[in-house]
Amino acid sequence: MMDAGRHPRIELLVNSEVEDVTGFVGNYRALVRRKAQYVDTDACNSCAECAEVCPVVVPDEYQQGFSSRKAIYMPFPQAVPASYFLEAESCLGFNPIACGKCLEVCEKECIDYDAQDELLDLEVGTIVVATGMDPYDPRSNDEYGYTRFPNVITSMEFERLICAGGPTEGEFLRPSDRKVPSRIGFIQCVGSRSASRGVPYCSNICCMNTIKQCLLLADHYPESQSTVFYLDIRAFGKGFEELYRRTREEGVHYVRGLPGQVEEDPVTHDLKVRVENTLSGRIESHELDMLVLATGLVPRTLNGNGDRRGKRSVDEILSLSHTSDGFVMEAHPKLQPVDAPSRGVYFAGCIEAPKDVKDSVTQAGAAAARAGNVLSAGQVRIEAITAELIPDICAQCKICAQVCPFNAIVEASKKDNLLPDFIEAACAGCGTCAAECPFDAIHMRHFADAQITAQIEAILAEAPMQKIVAFACNWCSYAGGDTAGISRLQYPASVRLIRTMCSGRVDQRFIWHAFRSGAPLVLVSGCHFSDCHYIDAVTWTQRRVEKVWTRMEKLGIRPERLQLEWISAAEGQKFARVMRELDELLRKVTPEEVAETQEILEREEAKEQKKKAAQAAAALATPAESTDQGLERSV
Ligand code: FES
Repeated sequence: MMDAGRHPRIELLVNSEVEDVTGFVGNYRALVRRKAQYVDTDACNSCAECAEVCPVVVPDEYQQGFSSRKAIYMPFPQAVPASYFLEAESCLGFNPIACGKCLEVCEKECIDYDAQDELLDLEVGTIVVATGMDPYDPRSNDEYGYTRFPNVITSMEFERLICAGGPTEGEFLRPSDRKVPSRIGFIQCVGSRSASRGVPYCSNICCMNTIKQCLLLADHYPESQSTVFYLDIRAFGKGFEELYRRTREEGVHYVRGLPGQVEEDPVTHDLKVRVENTLSGRIESHELDMLVLATGLVPRTLNGNGDRRGKRSVDEILSLSHTSDGFVMEAHPKLQPVDAPSRGVYFAGCIEAPKDVKDSVTQAGAAAARAGNVLSAGQVRIEAITAELIPDICAQCKICAQVCPFNAIVEASKKDNLLPDFIEAACAGCGTCAAECPFDAIHMRHFADAQITAQIEAILAEAPMQKIVAFACNWCSYAGGDTAGISRLQYPASVRLIRTMCSGRVDQRFIWHAFRSGAPLVLVSGCHFSDCHYIDAVTWTQRRVEKVWTRMEKLGIRPERLQLEWISAAEGQKFARVMRELDELLRKVTPEEVAETQEILEREEAKEQKKKAAQAAAALATPAESTDQGLERSV
């Protein structure tokens, strides 16, 4: 942190918040609010006289509330910049000035109550997001008595209590009576690995953190006895197993099982823990002086400064998508593990998943290198699969700009231009805009309409009654089919796959074209909602399919003949099962039903052509009153 603060090419903007980001790789524009600090950080020499005279006392967050601080304070000893900071919410110096003591005492005249927030407009080529995580709050599930018993603390609180710079100057004292505890229990997986009591995933760091804390206790207090209640110990990093073994050699007692009950003696504040030891199969009772909850980590969906008040989160600003556990999703878990789906945005640390310091530093190095690659090259290479606007057809309806998950289409009105602006460098080629455009004014440079309709026709050219037309997205469903194949899982040959980059590319016209060409069954399949590689493109797939179902019902076509399934790349089994079920369904569709559908759709199309011809004629007669909306695509 200090090195970063001193580096001539790094500008640190502390106490600042990103309010908006526009643009694309190499050309981002970030609007940053630098909050008023009320103290001139360059002039402040951290003499602390201001804090000494400040009459306001509030709990110190850095010390986990075990000690207090003033309204003007140094956030923590190694803070960069090494300057005092005035917290406006607690200070009495504002409107009207009721105090002003720090102002009087500061010889360097660093304090300015009239300081204002500053809005910075920064041009940046790439962005690294490292907004971290939050520790699980055990108050939401009080089964271990965290809110009721003073001697039940979290692992974060333990860190402050045993730290030389902590509220007790490194003396490990229990909160109830400030005595050194000799029997300390640790409960693992608090808030982790249980969907009903926290989060379902493993928080990755808690086992090793507890092992480290047990070693600290053994080192500082050789007479103490630590007992760890655990489900299983996950010591998988380099040297971690050795550390675990060392704790056993130091006499740490491990009990496999999580406590079912914690009680407190109201006089001594000692704790009694009852637990089923799943190794011995016995119910045990442990008398303890203190209990430490090894709390897990939860995703942070904030602006990076802990402020939740009605602000746009960094996820929203950068259009980041999430995995089902709430952490942000990488562009590819193996090949682009630090890249966001939007080009030029990278992740470092726990924003992506819970990880320890070593992994965070490794990922930060990788993110910096990825960002450096783009900046040093001076230009970016993009995939050729991008969308292209056909200006003559575009009716400026702006739908494309609204549905684009990457903000690659700028609405016409924003730039005072009649047509939307397509930023090719930002386009990821999902095809959602092309599928949603009501006027067919967007052409995809690959997976083009003509290519897809040609595949539909080829599939249904022979024996259509034995075919299922299945649209599968490249990243999940199609890969799920591959997994099924690699695993030698059988699925019926009636299923014919048409690959698209994303299920968002599946235009309703493709579906209608398949039915009109005699398809008995059509499947649209894509990634699970949190897995879509094009942020939220999959939500448009769902809406579109729902619209088609409604229309099918109106036309008297059985909606079951159009199926929608979410299949991930790992779900080979599911892929094979869904295909078998579809094959069963296929047998229930009769040739008469298919022929009737074709007739209905032909009739609808004829009606549509007639309507369009009438509109075109009307437009020719009165050009000024022509209405583009009337040319909308339908069945
Ligand atoms: Fe699979 Fe979007 S990438 S549905």
